[in-house]
Amino acid sequence: MLDLLIKNAHLATPKGNSPKRGAMIGQISIEKDINIGIADGKIAYIGHDAPEAAKVHDAEGHLVTPGLVDSHTHLVFGGFRQHELALKLDGADYLEILAAGGGILSTVNATRAADFDELYAKAGAFLDDMLAHGTTTVEAKSGYGLETETELKQLKVVAKLQQEHPMDVVSTFMGAHAIPQKYKQNPDDYVNLVVDEMIPAVAQQNLAEYCDIFCEKGVFDIAQSRKILKAAKSAGLGIKIHANEINNLGGAMLAAEVGATSAEHMIASDQSDIEALVKFGIIAILLPTTSFYLGKPFAPARQMLDRGAMIAIASDFNPGSSPNFNLQLSMTLACLKYGLKPAEVLTAVTLNAAWAIGRGATKGTIEEGKDADIVIWNCPDLDYLFYRFGNNQAKTVIKNGEIII
Ligand code: NIG
Ligand code: FE
Repeated sequence: MLDLLIKNAHLATPKGNSPKRGAMIGQISIEKDINIGIADGKIAYIGHDAPEAAKVHDAEGHLVTPGLVDSHTHLVFGGFRQHELALKLDGADYLEILAAGGGILSTVNATRAADFDELYAKAGAFLDDMLAHGTTTVEAKSGYGLETETELKQLKVVAKLQQEHPMDVVSTFMGAHAIPQKYKQNPDDYVNLVVDEMIPAVAQQNLAEYCDIFCEKGVFDIAQSRKILKAAKSAGLGIKIHANEINNLGGAMLAAEVGATSAEHMIASDQSDIEALVKFGIIAILLPTTSFYLGKPFAPARQMLDRGAMIAIASDFNPGSSPNFNLQLSMTLACLKYGLKPAEVLTAVTLNAAWAIGRGATKGTIEEGKDADIVIWNCPDLDYLFYRFGNNQAKTVIKNGEIII
């Protein structure tokens, strides 16, 4: 017998066992009057019959999709940076604030000062709220420690959340997020610290699946990024790169060279970068709220799809460039600013996003055998979910087969 039957769903879901490339990204399945059966936390039935279930939930014809997968966040941090709004309004640029010792570095001070329990409670509250907005799997990057002890503290917060919070959380080590003040004159010594001390500690304690780096002008150059990512790869970590967020240093080419799973941001990308994504099967994780919030151009998402690349869309939730974790806002912006169709964006925040963080086999679609992470929306159809914005449209959230919201 089923544990739960969701009846009368207007189901919209991508399907299949691989990330979708190019035009394939818009090929989703939409069916009305569908019943979805769940047993042992997995989807066990999809169809028009009503098999016996311990509990029945009526979706009343509302839109039902897979739970959203947020494949790029900086979840664990101390403090916030509301003072930067005034600086921005006075014309300060994101990288100028960082170069002056603010930006990421001010969050580093706050994260070093916060104790484990404080960071745990704060990140856990974010996850509660993300679930309430329809996000059921999240990637979380460290990178506000920039010293071994605090980087490990952040990653241990994620490890405890993985154990105790209903959200699925995928951990990424990003010790190379900025050059700490102490190493400003000798950044290569910091690169050595990441390579010789942090990566071995993270790998040995099994605290992350991926390693990411901020490859950017005034942050880590290509040679430094290569050194760190190669060390991470040798230690068994998957590879991600913050590439072409503001300036193009050749991060997408480096992603190809080191066999990265994803290249993230990709705003300042040219044709050769897009070709590299296609040729090497790298997923571009695009972050439209960051472009919006920094007042930067939007990534060339349509050109990427036209060339046959794979894209995912995520929130980039962090206290500086994107203090927002509502993926619904990213989804509407992706339509309006990338020129993508709702069906394309749905795949980019579910199936493709799941593949970008190593969860493609179990998450990101509503198909028999997949984890029962499902959202019922306060929407009559898929277009409506993307057309409205600013309010939370998640109505009911089912995580691992349980109705939790
Ligand atoms: O993806 N660019 C680097 N990391 C984040 C911003 C982090 C911050 O400003 O605190 C990003 O934009
Ligand atoms: Fe980021």
